[in-house]
This record gives sequence, C-alpha cells and structure tokens, in this order.
Amino acid sequence: MSAVRVLPCTGLQGSTTLPGDKSISHRALLLGALANGPSTINNFLPGGDCLATAGALRALGISIETPSERTVIVHGRGLNGLQPSHSPINCVRSGTTMRLLAGLLAGQSFSSILTGEEQLLRRPMERVAIPLRQMGAEIQTTNGHAPLHIQGRRLHGTQLTLEVPSAQVKSAILLAALYADSPTTIQETAPTRDHTERMLQAMGAVLEVHTSNKYRKMTLFPHRHPLTPLEIEVPGDFSSAAFPLVAALIIPGSHIHLKNIGINPTRTGLLDALIQMGASVRIHNERLVANEPAADLEVQSSQLKAIEIAGDLVVRMIDEFPIFAIAATQAQGKTVVRDAAELRVKETDRIATVVTELRKLGAVIVERLDGFEITGPVKLQSAAVSSHGDHRLAMALFVAGLIARDPIFIDDVACAADSFPGFLETMQSLGAEYASN
Ligand code: S3P
Repeated sequence: MSAVRVLPCTGLQGSTTLPGDKSISHRALLLGALANGPSTINNFLPGGDCLATAGALRALGISIETPSERTVIVHGRGLNGLQPSHSPINCVRSGTTMRLLAGLLAGQSFSSILTGEEQLLRRPMERVAIPLRQMGAEIQTTNGHAPLHIQGRRLHGTQLTLEVPSAQVKSAILLAALYADSPTTIQETAPTRDHTERMLQAMGAVLEVHTSNKYRKMTLFPHRHPLTPLEIEVPGDFSSAAFPLVAALIIPGSHIHLKNIGINPTRTGLLDALIQMGASVRIHNERLVANEPAADLEVQSSQLKAIEIAGDLVVRMIDEFPIFAIAATQAQGKTVVRDAAELRVKETDRIATVVTELRKLGAVIVERLDGFEITGPVKLQSAAVSSHGDHRLAMALFVAGLIARDPIFIDDVACAADSFPGFLETMQSLGAEYASN
C-alpha cells in the first residue's frame, strides 16, 4: 500500500515516453518461449502483470535474462520445450497471464495448475475453458474461477465463434491451436486487440486473416516448423498514455508530447472518443514498430463535450473507462456509456468502483447495469478515495486529484505498477505534484 495526497495542478508541460505495452510484452515472453532460440525484447514492460508471466515461464523451465530493466532475453526452447512446473503456477493478479497460459498449457504432454491472488481468483475463467474444451482440452475450473487444473492433451482444430469479445480468450485459442492436429478457425464478434496475430505472423506462423460478417475471421494452421525468435522494440502502451493524455486535456493551460506510443486501431477507441468530444490531439511521425503502428501524440487542453459510447467502441477502449470517466466529469453535457457490462469483471467491478469513488469527489454519476452516465462539467471536490487495489482506478483517481478544487487523498497507488511502473514520477516530470502519506 502506498497512499498519496494529490495537489491541484495549474497545467502539464513537457515531453515523455511511456513504458512498453503490457499486452505486447506478455505475448513477446510467451511466444518467445516457444521459438527456437533467444528472443530479445527491448522496452519490455517490467510491470507486475508481465513479471507474473515471466515467473510462470521460469516455473515451466524457460530461462529469462534481464540484462537491463527494460531489456529481456527469453531463451526459447521450441514448441515442445516447456517442462512441467513442480508446484501450482502463480499468475499473481494478471488475467492475461492466466488466460493465455491456459491455452498454451492445454496442449502440453503434462498437467498444470494455475492460481493467483484473491483479485484474480474472483475473475471468470469458464470463458477460456469452454472453447479450449471444444478443442479437446481437459480443464477444470473452481466454480468457474481459478485455480485451474489443466491436464495436457492432444488437441483438435475446430471452428469457433468468439462468444465473449475478449482478446485474452482469442489468444488462448490461438496458442492452443499451435498444438492442434488440424487447422483452427476463429470468428470474431467484435474488434478485439490483434497483437497475438501480428506477432505470430511476424514469427512465421501460418495464420490467414480476413473479414467475414464485418469482423475478422482467422485460421491458424498447426505449426510444424519452429517459430522464428523475436528481436523487437515494444512501443509505449496507449493504455498508460491515456492518463497523461486525459490529464493534459482537462487541466487548462496544458501542452504535452507523448513519444513512441502504440496506436494499433484495436486499442485507440479512447482517442477516437476524445477527438469526437473536441480534444486537441495531433498525431505525428506515424510508423511501424515491431509490426505494430506507433506515433508521437501532441496534446493540448481542450473544452470537451459529452458523448455516447456503445457497441464496438467499448471493446476498443475496454481498459480506459476509469480515466474516460474523469474526462466525462469535465465535459459539457451528459455522457452515457452503454454495452459495457464486461467492466464488472475486470480487476474490480469497474462500474461500481468508478461510481462509488467519483461520487465521493462530487461527480454527478448514475450507475447503469451496463455502464454509467456522467453529467458535467463539475468542479471536483476534496475527498479520501480508494483505488480498491485496481491499477487503472488508482491512476484515474490521481488525475482527478489534479483537477480537484483541493487536495484529494488516495489510499493505494502502489498498484499502478501492475501496468505502469514509474507512474508517479512520469506525472511529476510533466508538472503534477503529490505528497506521499
Ligand atoms: C488484454 C485484453 C483485455 C484487456 C486486458 C489485456 C490482453 O482483456 O482488458 O487488460 O492483453 O489480451 P479481455 O481480453 O478480457 O477483454
């Protein structure tokens, strides 16, 4: 636990880079472990969640070196090089670690148990077990949750429709499909993030992707050749950039540059929403980094107006609702978020926790079963708020503190390091002030 008092801010200025993308860092570790030979991952995210994936792979016999904090070398042992773990594998608080590993371990020749901390044990796991069972996997959940008991087995390719629009589930199926005895076809029903597909293709996997029924449909052919090791630079995480980005938009007099940020369109729903709301965000220097689109963002404070968010846009900004809610408190009019019931099964029930904490700050917010409604603009007031141990809520509340009338007190911001180590220092470098309590 580390509590902070956040002070009102008179404007953010300057330029910063952001830590590497969390989703890409997880995948680089996992796929690197399956390649034949060492993969080098530069600008790796040393956040709690990715360190959980590294720990899990080490338990499965993979050697991982860290020559510097943000460079990782994974010594891949090939598709059949994993070894059984002697004890249950601890995925800590990371849903991505657990769900992707479930897919990877389903087709091994040994059994595994996946477990984690209480926050993770509350999250739904049948969503990944059900499609894997359709491929022949033997997975038992614990009343729908972890611990997961996986008995590795020979898997069969099949045709699946992604019932839950989740990139974690899709990626678990793709990892399992590498081991299946025939091709696996997945039909998406929403635009979920496509980092696994991009990385598999870059490593030489035979993955055909096309559009069917408006969404992507992909077929992965079982892999008979070794995957090519990676040599990548991970772009900065858009989901981390979201915090200084929104802060600069809503704190008058701000003007900042965020360098080398991933702008994969499956991830930038928040940017599209903010631009529709009147945000001044300019995109410079667009390029491809590690087969992923990246750019520099220039952000200036802006008058925002309310918007309605629903449908596919929800999926493309699924991690950004806590910080989006802060932006909505400063927008003119009633912002409505619908079709977002998935937020109830994230690190916390993010509809309930956002509503509870923002109300303490004086926000005009109404809870919906599938989202929330916020009427603004409102000058936020001083209060003691709780992050509930949820990294993205902690960082969103910190940004709320910067625009509040008086200092606000947050009980725990240490959890920010699950996805954004150095969050406080980055915000401070742009002009934010806080005191540790
Ligand atoms: C992630 C996918 C998303 C996201 C999570 C990371 C990933 O979860 O919320 O933070 O890396 O695949 P879902 O796939 O469950 O939507």
